[in-house]
Amino acid sequence: MKLVKLIANLGYGSRKDVALMFREGRITDPQGEVLYADDKVSHADIRIDGEPLDPPAGLVLMLHKPVGYTCSTKDPGRIVYDLLPPRYRLRSPLLSTVGRLDRDTSGLLLLTDDGALLHRIVSPKSQLSKVYEATLAHDLRGDEAGLFASGTLLLESEPTPLAPARLEVVDPRHAALTLTEGRYHQVRRMFAAVGNHVTALHRSRIGGLELGDLPSGDWRALDAGDLDRLFTPVGAT
Ligand code: URA
Repeated sequence: MKLVKLIANLGYGSRKDVALMFREGRITDPQGEVLYADDKVSHADIRIDGEPLDPPAGLVLMLHKPVGYTCSTKDPGRIVYDLLPPRYRLRSPLLSTVGRLDRDTSGLLLLTDDGALLHRIVSPKSQLSKVYEATLAHDLRGDEAGLFASGTLLLESEPTPLAPARLEVVDPRHAALTLTEGRYHQVRRMFAAVGNHVTALHRSRIGGLELGDLPSGDWRALDAGDLDRLFTPVGAT
């Protein structure tokens, strides 16, 4: 790929902006030698104002989404992209969220510009489980775990029952729910179906990948080990 396009695709500016950066001598090799737009150099050997380039396409990030942010590029309120470097919103291919969390849900959110990987993560075939920690307005009744595990629970206005889900009760107002599908507002609607109400919801794990101690609002790029963990079923190691 031509250097102007490569750098513009990383969100540094339009192709015109990047061409100007070349003319201004701001784009160099690691030794500070000025590069020209038709030079043949690898991504790793390019500096802009002395700084290495942002990571190339194929980026996968994990973000600890705080409550109050939407998984959208357009919402007029706070959006998850506000938590990333501003250039990341301008990248091509686009950095998309892998599925969504509600505005009022916190926790592990993945973003990637790798369409094939995104499909693999969300595909029902991958059966990646997701763990949600729910805080409830009312004490659990005691029959919820059986009902959620039954594979017969029908949510309002849906034709097919939910796949079996695992509920681990922590105390009468706190439980962890493991799902293998992702229907609209699924956790909140499941608890509503048993007469309860979710007052706080947090996703702590996707597949074998845990949010861990990443602080709220922080993000990091995933490496090959993280991706292996993501696709490793819990209990398989
Ligand atoms: N289920 C919900 O109800 N909300 C989320 O954000 C995710 C799962």
